[in-house]
Amino acid sequence: MCGIFGMIGGGAVSNTLRALKYLEYRGYDSAGIAVKGDGGLKIYKTEGRIQNLVDIVPQGLQGGTAIGHTRWATHGAVCAENAHPFYSPDRNFAVVHNGIIENYLTLKEELISQGAEFSSATDSETVAHLLMREYNGDVLEAVQKTAKQLSGSFAIVIATTYDQRLFAVKRRSPLVVGIGNGGVYLCSDIRCVSRWAEQVAVTPDNTIVVTGSDGVYFYDYEGNAVQVDFFDAEEVEEMEQVKGEFMIKEIYEIPERIRLAKREYMRSGLQLNAETVRKFKRIYLIGCGTAYNSGLQVAAVARKLLDIDVLPVIASEFIYDNYPVDSKTLAFFISQSGETADTIRACEKVKEQGGCTYAVTNTKSSQLAYACDRTADISAGGEFAVASTKAYNCQLITLLLLMLDVAKIRGTLDVELYDRVVAAVDELPEAIDNILNDSYDIARLADEVKDCSAVFFIGRTTDYPTAAEGSLKLKEISYIHSEAYPAGELKHGTLALMEEGVGVVAIATDGDLKEKMALSIKEVVARGAKVICVSPYKFENAIPLAIPAVDKLLIGVVAVVPLQLLAYYTAKRLGRDVDKPRNLAKSVTVE
Ligand code: F6R
Repeated sequence: MCGIFGMIGGGAVSNTLRALKYLEYRGYDSAGIAVKGDGGLKIYKTEGRIQNLVDIVPQGLQGGTAIGHTRWATHGAVCAENAHPFYSPDRNFAVVHNGIIENYLTLKEELISQGAEFSSATDSETVAHLLMREYNGDVLEAVQKTAKQLSGSFAIVIATTYDQRLFAVKRRSPLVVGIGNGGVYLCSDIRCVSRWAEQVAVTPDNTIVVTGSDGVYFYDYEGNAVQVDFFDAEEVEEMEQVKGEFMIKEIYEIPERIRLAKREYMRSGLQLNAETVRKFKRIYLIGCGTAYNSGLQVAAVARKLLDIDVLPVIASEFIYDNYPVDSKTLAFFISQSGETADTIRACEKVKEQGGCTYAVTNTKSSQLAYACDRTADISAGGEFAVASTKAYNCQLITLLLLMLDVAKIRGTLDVELYDRVVAAVDELPEAIDNILNDSYDIARLADEVKDCSAVFFIGRTTDYPTAAEGSLKLKEISYIHSEAYPAGELKHGTLALMEEGVGVVAIATDGDLKEKMALSIKEVVARGAKVICVSPYKFENAIPLAIPAVDKLLIGVVAVVPLQLLAYYTAKRLGRDVDKPRNLAKSVTVE
């Protein structure tokens, strides 16, 4: 949710524009860059995608210092005026901001009463005004004074005509610092900065960063030095080499990523000793969107394995509800990005109440990972399509292995079954490859789905979470109205919506529940709906979308793949921007 970048060094302009392309997944409403040259700070900004910005920045523009921003609008409409960076009125400061300044209205009113005039409707512009007001010959002091007045979440990068260095402030929004290849860098995303930096550091909350050719310094708001360790940057894939959409590329990576997720889990293990595991009385699986759906799926499996409550909870609900937490609580926080504000807040709440916190994330250096007692790396690799796919499958693998270990230690799962299921994970890549190899069948089905007025996804027990994830995928990238229901629930109201033109996708992987699903299919077909059935079994009156049979406890990892493909092909048929659906952003860093 908004990407920021700043650098000092050769090629600052072209590298900042490249970085913004990389960060575009974080927001794509508008973009801008401020470049420091002989004539002071010069800002270029525009509505729309980064390419629009590239088109307005003069070719060959030079500058040793630049800051850039790609926006997902929170305050103020999508337009060039609300795009970042913002000048201070005297044009001696330029700022880019990711997050929300919660007290901006109070600050803005105060500044207006002192004569300030604003050019945008954003919360971020207040920061530029405050810096100008607080500047008294020392930029660091102005930044400290400004930072102390802000509440909310922010990663702010500041360029100024008064100083050669870049300044930044960080609280609850991600900010990574990099050094190497003749430059210093400030960025929202560790993978992005790692393409240039040799060493990277994750900025702690409530910290001011000062970067210049003489090095990088971290301070608290009082000006005391803060110790932050740098570590070696990992090699990253060059995004420019990806042809076509990220989403389909990421779906095709699933088999290999499952292997890597299992390998990583086998390397790191449960990271909790047996005594601790035996004392737990409840387990929460907390996340948002797709990450929540993976919790839903794993909870449905874990209920078959464990002797304690395993509850999936939506993070934003967990924060304001009264779920019991004590020292006997184990809470898994599931998040691809590790940046989702709701999930991080929920984690803070569990910590405050004395529970054990465990991050399950694709970003080891994320805020969530830092906040939790333990971290499991799902090893999905960079995921750039806004719609999450491979991360879901890898979250399932990691969480299922975690649950199997917890159940084994608690003695609720015998060793033979444990060994069988762990070994069966190795069969999943091939099963998924089979689905991917037949994806033309799914592409053909998309022709039917694209014309549906609404699509309902149904499943029972462990198939319901798959239905929920399939429905989320379809609606977010095709914009077709879609809902997921436990199949038995339809007759309690939703059946009223079944008619010609409505699609139903039934997920039926459990042989014991075949008859029940057959009945649900009959009920909707009788009312005119068209049914597609994802199953290893055949059903009357339903278009089959066959999946291979794998271990019952693991089938969710496989059953979701045809639904990911169905969403992709349907969105393509409708001409949607598959990787960057409207109104969304990949990392949701605001509550
Ligand atoms: C849907 C999707 C979102 C995310 C959700 C949580 O395709 O990507 O629903 O799953 O915003 O994001 P993370 O996992 O980064 O916490």
